[in-house]
Amino acid sequence: MEKTLSDNLIQPHGGELVNLMAGAERQAELKELSQDWASWDLSHRQTCDLEMILNGGFSPLAGFMNQSDYDSVIDGMRLSDGTLWPLPITLDISEELAASLSAGDKLALRDPEGVMLAALTVDDTWKLDKKAKAEAAFGTTNSSHPAVRYLMDRTSGIAVGGRLEGLQLPSNYDFVSLRLTPAELRRRFVRQGWSKIVAFQTRNPLHRAHVELTLRAAKEIEASLLIHPVVGMTKPGDVDHYTRVRCYQRIMSHYPRHRAMLSLLPLAMRMAGPKEAMLHAIIRKNYGCTHFIVGRDHAGATAADGTPFYGPYDAQELMAQHQEELGISMVPFKMMVYVPERDTYRGVDEIPDGTRTLSLSGTELRNRLDDGRDIPGWFTYPEIAQELRRTHKPRHQQGFTVFFTGLSGSGKSTIANVLQVKLLELGGRPVTLLDGDIVRTNLSSELGFSKEHRDINIRRIGFVASEITKNGGIAICAPIAPYERVRREVREMIAPLGGYILVHVATTLETCEKRDRKGLYAKARAGIIKEFTGISDPYEEPENPEIRYDTTDLSPEEAAQIIFLHLEREGYIAAGNGS
Ligand code: PPS
Repeated sequence: MEKTLSDNLIQPHGGELVNLMAGAERQAELKELSQDWASWDLSHRQTCDLEMILNGGFSPLAGFMNQSDYDSVIDGMRLSDGTLWPLPITLDISEELAASLSAGDKLALRDPEGVMLAALTVDDTWKLDKKAKAEAAFGTTNSSHPAVRYLMDRTSGIAVGGRLEGLQLPSNYDFVSLRLTPAELRRRFVRQGWSKIVAFQTRNPLHRAHVELTLRAAKEIEASLLIHPVVGMTKPGDVDHYTRVRCYQRIMSHYPRHRAMLSLLPLAMRMAGPKEAMLHAIIRKNYGCTHFIVGRDHAGATAADGTPFYGPYDAQELMAQHQEELGISMVPFKMMVYVPERDTYRGVDEIPDGTRTLSLSGTELRNRLDDGRDIPGWFTYPEIAQELRRTHKPRHQQGFTVFFTGLSGSGKSTIANVLQVKLLELGGRPVTLLDGDIVRTNLSSELGFSKEHRDINIRRIGFVASEITKNGGIAICAPIAPYERVRREVREMIAPLGGYILVHVATTLETCEKRDRKGLYAKARAGIIKEFTGISDPYEEPENPEIRYDTTDLSPEEAAQIIFLHLEREGYIAAGNGS
């Protein structure tokens, strides 16, 4: 444990700043011993959690939660020793690994390159009830909540708890000088003579309204200001953190000198609204801040139908209830809007009814960037708009993926070929066709047609298409892709990087079987080919494809043209281009 550096700084949560990094001798010993231990390769999310535990940001946690802490947090937002703690921090592992571990065993936690970051001394392993966890932590089991979806689809539900000894913090090579640990940030505060500090949490680029809000908050309580954006994991679809940090660096010049500081937080967000606001406050307390700004819908998420999961000021209410025990003070803030008559920003609750105000939602900003339209000067600074435009090109310059799904013989490949040629004729972007057969020959030759193998195959296609899309190219994929869940995964992987158009070629089984170009249906009926989609294996219809058609009475040219027109309407092809 590391003693806090100055009595003038706020005490960390639980009283002491946890420092789990082993000394040089112990590190060498752990490395040597680890040859006999089981290993776990951490996911990105787990690496973020590990970093926050090791660096003391999650003080007083000294490891991943064991079942007793987990149960206690789920039941009543407290660790088993009674300390207030809002959300479970668990390490999810495979069933096989869990079965091989007993209390007292060591587990080596490794990064994707295999480098050991920490040693975990096992307390216990247990199977958690995913639904109960979702309900308790996120207040919903609705799978359109990003953390619920992650929990349901991407975790085994088997957790291992235990104390950690750190060998090294996860390697981050970007913006190194801005990645201060709690101890480093506390030292910096002491050096600058800051003891009353208000922190601002964000996962979005900052604009004029944020500068107004944060400055006002700091002035009101006569505190210095810490801009503390999350760069671990945020909501899928958010602006990438490289772009955001460049924007933050630029916006810092709009704050008065010696009043504001920028530092980055390697947290993986859960979008758990009110409970996450509490976690954010605890973290900022550990980083040495005395105050924390909580605005509208803090760390919230919205369901697929657009309904928010949490009320706009639920986070402020929950924080207020626990404020005293938390020890860090909340600075509640209402939404800020621009009042053109006064050329200034005001809180929505401060302006008389009927005052003309302007605001620009995140969606509207994205739409403007997509269309290459103007971003008004009252909304943001020119250098921020310029920085956003560098990353977020107008749609007709973005990459996109057209992902076909449908039965064998439904017409996917033929339409995909026509579309490819049309797009090549148009020019301007490279086009790659990942047809089912091409992929099975070049990427997935060892795979068969079990559900597991089909899912691997689709994930590979999704990965390649996501890289192409990210780099501004066009990927056309045409596998059967019979399962909804993995198709959804692929959409989530690609949509944040550019366009994603799912085309369900819904030609009936009857027509496909009648065509039977490759003679496969006959063989499947005769039982010569097993697990054949539509005959002896399922095909799950996609729930929300962008385009769905049956090709029984549609020529490949007509089918490709429907996609072409859709791409044009959505802005991925500039109207009139190439004519
Ligand atoms: S999947 O489910 O998406 O991984 O399938 P995919 O990679 O598209 O491969 C489908 C092509 O493989 C041939 N084939 C089979 N299809 C379905 N089920 C079974 N059991 C099977 N065995 C071989 C078939 O020709 C598919 O090609 P298309 O172009 O779809 O007709």
